[in-house]
Amino acid sequence: MTADPALHIPVMLEPVVEALAPRDGGRYVDGTFGVGGYTRALLTAANCTVYAIDRDPEAIRRAGILAQEFGGRLIAIEGRFGAMDQLVANAGAAQVDGIALDLGVSSPQIDDAERGFSFRFDGPLDMRMEKAGPSAADVVNGATEAELADIVFYLGEERYARRVARALVAARLNGPITRTGELAAIVRRVVPSSKSGGIDSATRTFQALRIHVNRELDELDHGLEAAERLLSPGGRLAVVSFHSLEDRRVKTFLRRRSGRTSGPSRHAMAAIAGPVDGPRPTFEVITGRPIAPSDAEAARNARARSARLRIGQRTDAPAWPAGEVA
Ligand SMILES: C[S@@+](CC[C@H](N)C(=O)[O-])C[C@H]1O[C@@H](n2cnc3c(N)ncnc32)[C@H](O)[C@@H]1O
Repeated sequence: MTADPALHIPVMLEPVVEALAPRDGGRYVDGTFGVGGYTRALLTAANCTVYAIDRDPEAIRRAGILAQEFGGRLIAIEGRFGAMDQLVANAGAAQVDGIALDLGVSSPQIDDAERGFSFRFDGPLDMRMEKAGPSAADVVNGATEAELADIVFYLGEERYARRVARALVAARLNGPITRTGELAAIVRRVVPSSKSGGIDSATRTFQALRIHVNRELDELDHGLEAAERLLSPGGRLAVVSFHSLEDRRVKTFLRRRSGRTSGPSRHAMAAIAGPVDGPRPTFEVITGRPIAPSDAEAARNARARSARLRIGQRTDAPAWPAGEVA
C-alpha cells in the first residue's frame, strides 16, 4: 500500500492561519511541512516567505515540488524543528513573524506500509520519520523488559504495559520481531479491546514506540525553546497537538513563559541579562483553553478529533536560557 499525499487533510488549518495572520513581506516557519497544507495556505494568504521544515526526506521532496509553484517564497529545509532557529539562520533569517507546528505523523507516513508506522497494514517495523537511526524493531528486540514497560506505559499511557513488555520479550525468544503485523498481533493477544468498541488495542503501544523512536517529546521541548529564540516581538506561535503528553508540555511552556507559574531557577535567572527581580515573560498566552476542531471538521476528518491548538504571542523580552521548559 502506498500513500497519496493528497489524502492528508490539514488539521485546524483555518485557525492556524488566522493565528499567524500572514502579511505581505512577512517570514513564517512551518516546522512540520508534511504535505504542505499549512505552507500552501500561508503562501496563498499573503506575499510572504515560508521556511518549510520537515525531518522526513520524502516530505522535503514534496516541498521541493511545491517550491516551484511559489518561486523563491518557499524555502524547504530538511531537519528537525528542535533546531529551527539554526536551520532558519543558515537559510538567511535571524527572526520570523510566525511559527506553526502540527505535531505527529502525516497520512502519507501512516498509510505507507513500508514506513512501518501502522498496525493496520503489515510492513517492516520501522517508524523512523528521518529514515535514519535506531528503528522500532531495534527497540522492540533490544530493550530490556523493564525499559519496554516504561516506554509503553509513559509514552502510550497503556495500563497493560507490563503485560505487553512481558509478551514482547517472550515472543522474541523465537526470533526477532520484524513486522508491524507481528507486533500488533502480540499486543492484541494481551491487551483487551476497549468495551466501548473504539480503538484498536495495539494503538497505544504503537504510539509509544513511535514517540520513543523519534524522540518526539524532547523534540517538542527543543522546538518550543527554539521558537522563543526565533520569533520577533509580536510574532505568534501556533501548536497543534494530538495527545495529552504533547498538549501538557505546550501548555506548561506557555504558562511559565507568560509568568503565570513560577519562573526559572535561580541559576537560570542569574544567566539572564535584565532586572534582578526575575526574567520578563517572553510570551502572552492567546488561548487560555486550547482550541478544539469545529464539529464540522471533526465530522469530515477523523484525525482532527483529538487535535488541540494553543497559541502564544512573543513579547520583546529576551529568550530564557535553554533547558527551562517544564
Ligand atoms: C501532522 S504532519 C504535518 C502536516 C502538515 N501540517 C500539512 O498540512 O501537510 C507532521 C509532519 O511533521 C514532521 N515532523 C514531526 N516531528 C518533526 C520534527 N521534530 N522536526 C521536523 N519535522 C517533524 C513529520 O515528518 C510529518 O511530516
